[in-house]
Amino acid sequence: MTTTNSKTDFQYLIIPVFESDNLKSKLEKPLQALNFSKWSYFDNFKAAQKETIFWISAIGVKVYFVGLGKKKNNSEVSKTMRSFFYKMKNDFTGNIGIYLRDKEMSEFAFGISNGIYLSEYSLGAQKTTLNKKTSWFQTKGELNFLANKENEKSVAIDAKKGQKLAETQMKSMGMVDAPANYKTPQNIADIITESGKRYGYKVSVFDEIECEKRGLKALLAVGKGSIENPARFILMEYSHAEATKTVGLVGKGVTFDTGGVSLKPGDNMNYMKSDMGGAAAVFGAIEMAAKLNLKVNIVAAIPATENCIDSLAIKPGDVIGSYSGKTIEVINTDAEGRLILADGLAYIRKNYTTDILIDLATLTGNCIQALGYEAAALLSNNDSLAESIISAGTTTGEKTWRMPLWEAYGDMMKSDVADIKNLSTAPLAGAITAAKFLEEFIDGHEAWAHLDIAGVAFGQNENNTMKSATGYGVGLLVEVLERVC
Ligand code: BES
Ligand code: ZN
Ligand code: ZN
Repeated sequence: MTTTNSKTDFQYLIIPVFESDNLKSKLEKPLQALNFSKWSYFDNFKAAQKETIFWISAIGVKVYFVGLGKKKNNSEVSKTMRSFFYKMKNDFTGNIGIYLRDKEMSEFAFGISNGIYLSEYSLGAQKTTLNKKTSWFQTKGELNFLANKENEKSVAIDAKKGQKLAETQMKSMGMVDAPANYKTPQNIADIITESGKRYGYKVSVFDEIECEKRGLKALLAVGKGSIENPARFILMEYSHAEATKTVGLVGKGVTFDTGGVSLKPGDNMNYMKSDMGGAAAVFGAIEMAAKLNLKVNIVAAIPATENCIDSLAIKPGDVIGSYSGKTIEVINTDAEGRLILADGLAYIRKNYTTDILIDLATLTGNCIQALGYEAAALLSNNDSLAESIISAGTTTGEKTWRMPLWEAYGDMMKSDVADIKNLSTAPLAGAITAAKFLEEFIDGHEAWAHLDIAGVAFGQNENNTMKSATGYGVGLLVEVLERVC
């Protein structure tokens, strides 16, 4: 399957259209080309988002008009195309043409391509009663983006980029959706090592012995609850010869969060396999940076561990050490994400010089209380970094909403017995106090941002009954990286 631009032999023609008052004039050109005269056919077609209309042309081409609604941005266009292709992918066989000969539509090749390629993604990797139907993606059919001469180049470039992003997003989603017994910390390390080899970035994996040597004590403390699947510290480095900036990234990689001894209630605990959405986003971002050859240096850390129960597991009241040297009183073992992030952030801070430092984590239930499933909480000590993340998220459709980091919130994390405690006694402002905890481990870095993605990394969608990965963060981080370059 390739993405070409000039082929005319296709069995399917997809014509995406925005909802507009002069819809008929927009459709005139493609329809004339297809010898179509029955205008009444379109009397009720508004091109509302996901509204489609279908007919077979005189020469036997199956033609689909796909309504995109009124929102003219790549993320909405991607969603619509993904939804349409997801429904159609088992029916399509052969070559498909995407009609982008309309000047306006040609500007959305990125979103159209991204959505089409994302539609390949589905759950069910572990099903043995396989769906016998072959999807279009397994056939040798071609996808042709049909553009006018003057837009041919940009359409081809944008479509390719949309495809590349979709492929990495699907890898990231696959990680989050994988059951915990299929993705131990070592499995995650293996996947990333493989990607590093393939796309050209350096990956180092510290096993529990190496972590011990290096003093990654907070990560090891959480990992002690899982003797059979020990913690891994995964370090990734991507560099470009012409880069002027270095970006530090840290992603929470808890492959399953039982809560530890402060055990979570059983209802929906199965969803805690998704507690590595931050790690998946960071992995996706560095893979994409390497694929796109972005002019930036990246150093990224993924502390990966299970949060389970063993006789050796940390207990509430324990005081543990950390990479930074600070001691931490563990009030609640379910607030484990901040413990491992503390080591990730401190490690990057101490061993590298970074212009900006961003961490992503499915960190608090309180973030969902505050913002629901619509936006990630953004906490940053740097206004211009915060603005650029907010604006990048508006572009990619991955919304963020800023919360404050005022000093008073930090007071709630003071401990009588250690340098800091991992949970405030007051059950309020949990997303903020978690960020205040993290701030203690960045050693005064002047451009740090924390994204709490608990509500957005994993969610309900139209294709499945269970919740599943959204891929949140990959596109956003790539956009941030592109703005930094
Ligand atoms: N992984 C959870 C946060 C979470 C909750 C992510 C729901 C996605 C959906 C985190 O480790 C956690 O358990 N946080 C606790 C902290 C608690 C001890 C105050 C929480 O927010 O409930
Ligand atoms: Zn937890
Ligand atoms: Zn967690």
